[in-house]
Amino acid sequence: MLITGGAGCLGSNLIDRYLPRGHEILVIDNFATGKRGNLPPVAGLTVVEGSIADKALVDRAFADFRPELVIHSAAAYKDPADWAEDAATNVLGTIHVAQAAREAGAGRLIHFQTALAYGRPDQVPIPADHPARPFTSYGISKAAGEHYLAMSGLPLISLRLANVTGPRLAIGPIPTFYKRLKAGQDCFCSSTVRDFLDMEDFFALMDLAIAPEAPAGIFNVSTGEGRSIKDVYDAVVAYLGIAPETEVPVVPPGADDIPAVVLDPSATEAAFGWRAQVGFEDTISRMLAWYDAHGVTDVYSHLAAPPAKEQGA
Ligand SMILES: NC(=O)c1ccc[n+]([C@@H]2O[C@H](COP(=O)([O-])OP(=O)(O)OC[C@H]3O[C@@H](n4cnc5c(N)ncnc54)[C@H](O)[C@@H]3O)[C@@H](O)[C@H]2O)c1
Repeated sequence: MLITGGAGCLGSNLIDRYLPRGHEILVIDNFATGKRGNLPPVAGLTVVEGSIADKALVDRAFADFRPELVIHSAAAYKDPADWAEDAATNVLGTIHVAQAAREAGAGRLIHFQTALAYGRPDQVPIPADHPARPFTSYGISKAAGEHYLAMSGLPLISLRLANVTGPRLAIGPIPTFYKRLKAGQDCFCSSTVRDFLDMEDFFALMDLAIAPEAPAGIFNVSTGEGRSIKDVYDAVVAYLGIAPETEVPVVPPGADDIPAVVLDPSATEAAFGWRAQVGFEDTISRMLAWYDAHGVTDVYSHLAAPPAKEQGA
């Protein structure tokens, strides 16, 4: 399998899962947000350093490796003001991946999509056939990329993901609260609701999605259960066993934020016979146990955020 963005959180977790199961894996990554240290020098894993925006590099990697399965996980989001980089990676880079996959005779494409591609939802939980009205650079460019992948003519599984939590997660409220509370710093919560999916549940769906007989289409991968950022804060406080002196401020969402992002997984459950198994409290405490063992590194956000947002949502 070829994994773009294999040095990132999801990509490196998939490598940890599929390499020991005998898959030969080639990664293309420019280390914009992924880390070299996530890719151990082991047999069966080849790393091409470079950007998917580089057409010649992408064409060469696909022509040499000739993957049956392509998992397109590379994405740019770290500077919400850098529209050109988001477009270069998420649109142009994705076009290169789609075309090179077709040219190299790949059998199938799996793509990871952000819930931001839906834009502001008319209904929550958001069904997979909800209209896409993205309004952020990340959401717009990722939505365009998904359309180009579909134009490749290859069977495409585009998975619209809830907030996947697991090893190496360095984005969002869980690592932010953990880091700040441990350092004795104040936090804010935005009054938003999200859907948190444990990595083990993501893996279970991926095991089904990488199978040759998997159904193609656009699927939400989520619990369908909305939990507030304050619920996350409370879970981190409880896990750390601390008693903050003051009640945490809950602030309205920023202008570019969406109050509730909860994805309706019912069509995915019907198509794959899959359902998320890990409950919210276990999902959070498993994540925090990982931070206890490994620490939190950089914390990124793809929101153009007011200061409060950096502190938790
Ligand atoms: N993690 C989640 O919960 C979640 C939710 C929704 C969607 N997604 C999608 O899943 C994918 C993976 O997300 P992640 O959480 O692992 O993020 P991540 O930042 O950890 O991984 C993205 C990887 O892509 C690489 N990359 C960026 N630009 C590149 C380029 N031009 N060429 C080659 N590599 C490049 C980065 O260095 C990084 O290794 C993304 O497509 C993202 O939009 C993730």
